[in-house]
Amino acid sequence: MKINGILFLLLVFLLSACGGRKQNSQQQTQAPVSAEKSAEMANHPGKKVYASFCLACHMADGSGVPGMHPPLIQTEWVTGDKERLINITLKGMSGKIEVNGETYNSIMPPHSHLSDKQIADVLTYVRKSFGNNASEVMIEEVQKVRNK
Ligand code: HEC
Repeated sequence: MKINGILFLLLVFLLSACGGRKQNSQQQTQAPVSAEKSAEMANHPGKKVYASFCLACHMADGSGVPGMHPPLIQTEWVTGDKERLINITLKGMSGKIEVNGETYNSIMPPHSHLSDKQIADVLTYVRKSFGNNASEVMIEEVQKVRNK
């Protein structure tokens, strides 16, 4: 009688332990696909360049600061012509511009002190993060614009 009781408790313990493990593995396989995509950019070298040189103004999620620093989400400068985007990064930007319906009239400092690789990396990161899905920027493309 006593042994039966112990065996019963052991069985209950084993069953609940198995159940717990099953739940964990189910949670792992159900990870959303979008998390994989952002994980790819999470390890991209451009993320570090962004954190050091762009994040303070354009924010970690690229949303900018209303009335001060424009967003980098689905803007024509970010996802459009690469030469123009490289030029903005190298030489900075000033004067009145309208970004996604909001007017900005501020100053972005030049970033020509960054290497061609750093600029290629950060612009690839920006063009593929924050919901953007544009092509990558190559080191040679930055070189060409810098030497123009
Ligand atoms: C000191 C703040 C500051 C920093 C640092 C900065 N920006 Fe900007 N950026 C601005 C401002 C302000 C503008 C708008 C300038 C204007 O009003 O003409 C701008 C405009 C832009 C634009 C064009 C408009 C848009 O929103 O699409 C892009 C692209 C851009 N920045 C990318 C970058 C990248 C990439 C970096 C890092 C390498 C960076 N910026 C660093 C302040 C900054």
